[in-house]
Amino acid sequence: MEFEACNLKDTRELAKTILDLLNGRNIILLEGSLGAGKTTLTQGLLEELRAEGPFTSPTFVVMKDYKLDGKKGFLKAFHFDCYRIDSSDLTEMSWHEVITNKDNLVVVEWPEKIKEALPKDSLCIKIEIVDESKRKFIIKNN
Ligand SMILES: Nc1ncnc2c1ncn2[C@@H]1O[C@H](COP(=O)(O)OP(=O)(O)OP(=O)(O)O)[C@@H](O)[C@H]1O
Ligand SMILES: [Mg+2]
Repeated sequence: MEFEACNLKDTRELAKTILDLLNGRNIILLEGSLGAGKTTLTQGLLEELRAEGPFTSPTFVVMKDYKLDGKKGFLKAFHFDCYRIDSSDLTEMSWHEVITNKDNLVVVEWPEKIKEALPKDSLCIKIEIVDESKRKFIIKNN
C-alpha cells in the first residue's frame, strides 16, 4: 500500500490512516533517510492520540514518552530515535517491557539500527523523498 503527501500537513494527517492500519499491533517502524519526514509523521501520530506537546525530536535523548488518554487503546506513546545507538543500548531503556505492553504505542525512527531487537509483528513504513515537499509512504507488511 502506498500514500503520497504533498506537504507537512498532509504528512501529519496520514497519522489517522496509519493508526487504522495497526490492527492490534502497537509498534510502528519508520524507515527513511535524514529529513524524510519520520519525526513529522510521529508528531502527527502524537497529535492524533492527543498526547501533550511539545513534540520535540528525541534525536539527542533517544527516547521520549508521552502520556495518552486511551484513544485507540493506548495509554502511553514511546518515540525512539535509534540513529546513534544499536541493539545493545536498548536494555537500559527497558525496551522489552515497553514493546510487550500493548497499552504502549511504540514509534521507532531508524529501526535498521536495532534490527536484532525488532519484533515481527510491527507496522513498517518506508518514507521516500520524491521532491522538496513531496513524500511517498510505502506500507510494508512484515
Ligand atoms: N511532505 C512532507 N512531509 C514531511 N516533511 C517534509 C515534507 N515536505 C518537506 N518536509 C521537510 O522535510 C523535513 C522532515 O524532517 P523530519 O525531522 O520529519 O525528518 P526525519 O525523517 O525525522 O529526519 P531525521 O532522520 O534527521 O530524524 C522537514 O524539514 C520538513 O519541513
Ligand atoms: Mg527524526
